[in-house]
Amino acid sequence: MTAKVISVCNLKGGVGKTTLVMALAEYLAGDTMYGQRVLAIDLDPQSNLTTGLMSEEVWEWQYNNRGLTLPFLFKNAEYFLANGNYDKFIVKEEVSNVRNKNSFNCLHLIPSSPRLFEVQEYLPESSVSILRQIITPLLAEYDYILIDCPPSINNIIKSAFYASDFCLTPCVPSRMSIHGLELLLKQIEKFNQDYEHHLNPIGTLISRYNGTVAQTQNLNFIIVNPFFPPTFYNKIPERAKVAESLDFSMQLTYKQKYGDTHDAMVKLTKEFMQRLNQNSVNLLQMVSLP
Ligand SMILES: Nc1ncnc2c1ncn2[C@@H]1O[C@H](COP(=O)(O)OP(=O)(O)O)[C@@H](O)[C@H]1O
Ligand SMILES: [Mg+2]
Repeated sequence: MTAKVISVCNLKGGVGKTTLVMALAEYLAGDTMYGQRVLAIDLDPQSNLTTGLMSEEVWEWQYNNRGLTLPFLFKNAEYFLANGNYDKFIVKEEVSNVRNKNSFNCLHLIPSSPRLFEVQEYLPESSVSILRQIITPLLAEYDYILIDCPPSINNIIKSAFYASDFCLTPCVPSRMSIHGLELLLKQIEKFNQDYEHHLNPIGTLISRYNGTVAQTQNLNFIIVNPFFPPTFYNKIPERAKVAESLDFSMQLTYKQKYGDTHDAMVKLTKEFMQRLNQNSVNLLQMVSLP
């Protein structure tokens, strides 16, 4: 089995990308859930996925101060790629604050750092292939590799596109978020042409859904728009509990962490896996056509 690599992206911030990556990682990897082997990669200099999934103290002393966060990997890529050992960049213990009887099969994280803001300014175009080179030897070790993308177009997000087979696009049913999605889809189309790549959008996932009249109108616009990736049947409701979920400080069960969105998370994780399987079959069929 080789890992499926998925970029989670929308060019609008605040649409729930990081929350979705964290939830998918936790629900995919949980022993009492789907028991998958998951690697989450924080590609956003805001580093919200990092602080959501690991202790800041461990991040500071064991990773960032020792040059073991993503910006260092990008900055010194030639050195690390030549040595072929990125294992020390991967956090393997105590990832996520969800604790239950069986915990996780395999939930790992490559953490980021705000230093990525500085590093991304100077990255040459050749750096677009770095993440793919880093991931390739890891493909056999995971079932899913989830990349939390920044809301910007630069060589960092392009490196995520280049490393991924699929993208998942969370979208709040709001005008701004729809514009962020439209812009992203244009950029992906251009990227696929420029790099002869096939990044396959598996679906738009409605997040922070509160069912107001304005949201419902925008939701219908998203659903019927043939240019948008097909909308997920399951949505993430807007809930205070979910807003608190990026706080790592307390150990919680799934239900304590996600409150009444727990069932929605279980279902959307299943839908996510099903869609990826269908898309993989489609891709294989495309490849095997004469
Ligand atoms: N379903 C939700 N209900 C309530 N708040 C949410 C929900 N999803 C995300 N949030 C909150 O909205 C803010 C932005 O979410 P985040 O996942 O960081 O978005 P992004 O990564 O797209 O910038 C965060 O404060 C987060 O806690
Ligand atoms: Mg984010």
